[in-house]
Amino acid sequence: MMTLNKDCSIVIADNAGFCSGVKRAMEIAAEAARKHGKAYTIGRLVHNHDAIRILERKNVFAAETFEELSELEENAVFVIRSHGVGQEVYDKLAGRTFYDATCPFVKKIHHIVSGDAPVIIAGDRAHPEVIGIAGHIKSEYDIVNSPSELETLLNINESFRHNAPIFVAQTTFNEYKWRDCIQIIKKHCTNAKIFDTICNATVERQSQARKLSQEIAESAGGIMVVIGSKHSSNSVKLYEICKENCNSTVFIENARDLNTADLKEMTRIPTRGACKIGITAGASVPAEIIKEVHSIMSMEIKSVGEFGSLETVTADETLSDGEIDFMAEVDKTFQKIYTGKRVKACVMSINNNEIVVDLGVKQSGYIPADEIGDAEVKLGDEIECIVTKVNDAEGFVHLSKKRIDSELGFEKLVAAYNEQTVLEGLVDSVVNSGVMVTFEGIKIFVPASQSGVPKSGNLETLLKKTVKFKLIEINEQRKRLVGSIRAASRLENDAAREKFWAEIEVGKKFVGEIKSMESYGVFVDLGGVDGMVHLSELTWARVRHPKEAVSIGEKLEVTVKSYDPEKRRVSLSAKDPEANPWTKFINEYSEGLAVKAKVVNITPFGAFAQIIPGIDGLIHISQISGDRIKNVSEKLQVGQEVDVQITEINPDQERVSISIKALLEPQPEPVVEEETVEEPSETEEAESVVEENSEIVEEETAEHTEELPEE
Ligand code: F3S
Repeated sequence: MMTLNKDCSIVIADNAGFCSGVKRAMEIAAEAARKHGKAYTIGRLVHNHDAIRILERKNVFAAETFEELSELEENAVFVIRSHGVGQEVYDKLAGRTFYDATCPFVKKIHHIVSGDAPVIIAGDRAHPEVIGIAGHIKSEYDIVNSPSELETLLNINESFRHNAPIFVAQTTFNEYKWRDCIQIIKKHCTNAKIFDTICNATVERQSQARKLSQEIAESAGGIMVVIGSKHSSNSVKLYEICKENCNSTVFIENARDLNTADLKEMTRIPTRGACKIGITAGASVPAEIIKEVHSIMSMEIKSVGEFGSLETVTADETLSDGEIDFMAEVDKTFQKIYTGKRVKACVMSINNNEIVVDLGVKQSGYIPADEIGDAEVKLGDEIECIVTKVNDAEGFVHLSKKRIDSELGFEKLVAAYNEQTVLEGLVDSVVNSGVMVTFEGIKIFVPASQSGVPKSGNLETLLKKTVKFKLIEINEQRKRLVGSIRAASRLENDAAREKFWAEIEVGKKFVGEIKSMESYGVFVDLGGVDGMVHLSELTWARVRHPKEAVSIGEKLEVTVKSYDPEKRRVSLSAKDPEANPWTKFINEYSEGLAVKAKVVNITPFGAFAQIIPGIDGLIHISQISGDRIKNVSEKLQVGQEVDVQITEINPDQERVSISIKALLEPQPEPVVEEETVEEPSETEEAESVVEENSEIVEEETAEHTEELPEE
């Protein structure tokens, strides 16, 4: 053990140890393991054996490569360390559960380099952070680790000189080298975009280490102790800086190294008189290790010194034209975050337990799985959320999307209520006296009487159906909402009717559903308005009842024959003018032609017989036989096929007279002995039969028309 005299004092740099990015990554990894039982980091989370051991005790294990991890069990949980990874790794992680602990500052660099411009990175090309950054570049890029490498690159590569390259640095890049690099890049490129992406934590740590080591060097027998791993680039840089200023600088990994021969030799000097010991530590050193080193040294001194603190030293940098102060740029875009604030955030990663979002602030945003809500969220989406908790010390912002969805949804509902808008929602449950409808995550109660289901009906028929509803009551304070499906359908029907009457015209075609049927015709729904198709307009064929041609529920193509907006009545025809049998009859048949016809109706004055479908001819009683007959049924029955001659065609009235007698051999005239009774002429009788039939139909129509429901 080293020996120190009791007048020595120990000063620990304020910012020694974990930076906020590493601290956050350690916590995310521990939390992932706590939730899932175990978690695997892609590469070591930090370059420090003690930190790794602490993580292992918390069931967080490290693998060096992603390939190694991909052989793990399917439900293994992964953690991306603070260094970040390239896009390729994100692609490989698709569908797996992972936590993204990439430091927000590194994440910002990923954004900067992902455009179309060529990129030059100042950093160590083998460092995982640099590999990760390069993995987000889509255009030409190169990596330089010193001003001389940059000079060479720009001398030989014209493309970088002429194409406005983006120049970024590894977050832990040496700030002096960086300043020299900036001079070089300005000399070669007039339009380069320079982002000073060196992390403040590193700059401050290095700056304080420099000052403290200078102070220690000035005190007699002072010792500067740098804690960190020899594999940690930022710890090594810290050591280099301290060593430059203070020759008595030792580099240890933990308290055990205090006992080495080198250190003993070095600490033998200040055995008497006052001396000062400075301690700093790299970004990956756990606080426990710093504490341990401090307490062992304190015990040696035998007078426990208070933790000293140094003034925070910030490099006094004056940026000149062309330089972009990365941290200042980041700061400019920072929003003030507080609980209850509505913010917009970009989705950076999605896993089973949470969504990680970029809020444009130093802290990382997390939306737990049960606060995401129902809407689908994809990587890169900009979503609105509400801040539920801010933890500045740990660098976390907890958010809820569900809550803001609900608030926004309620605002929409209030607007819809005021504007009497019809909304759509899903019936998700049946309750005692109605149903619950969900609209954008908000529940609205629809009483049974407003559900549109008849009293005798079953509300369950609405379950899981999307329904249109209108809000009829709203209580903003109690967030109570009452809706009506009935009112919505009434409103919609009114609107549809108004539109119908505004656009209706004779000849307009519709396809409607047959809603009801009467002996005189059918009623067709034309979209909120019912129109009537009279029996005679249903089909060209002769039918006695609509059911012979159509059925309820059938779709029918109809044409408007006439309408009365005041009485709200529409007469329709389902007859296709193209299929009018008169056209065919006139073209193919003529008077004098002998044809076969089928008796379809018997009347006191004769029989109607079908010549072709839709064309019936009248055989007057006097034209049935050569003999005088008193009753048509003596000679003819419905369904009987007879040979007839077409004796008259009246196209205007669409009437045909036919005769059986005309085809018979002429018979001698019987001698009439009794007084002759004058019979009505064929035409007069035929007309009276047809007119009589029409009157019957019209009377029926008139009767039922009076019964038409008022719309
Ligand atoms: Fe991040 Fe800076 Fe640490 S970049 S990981 S906070 S050193």
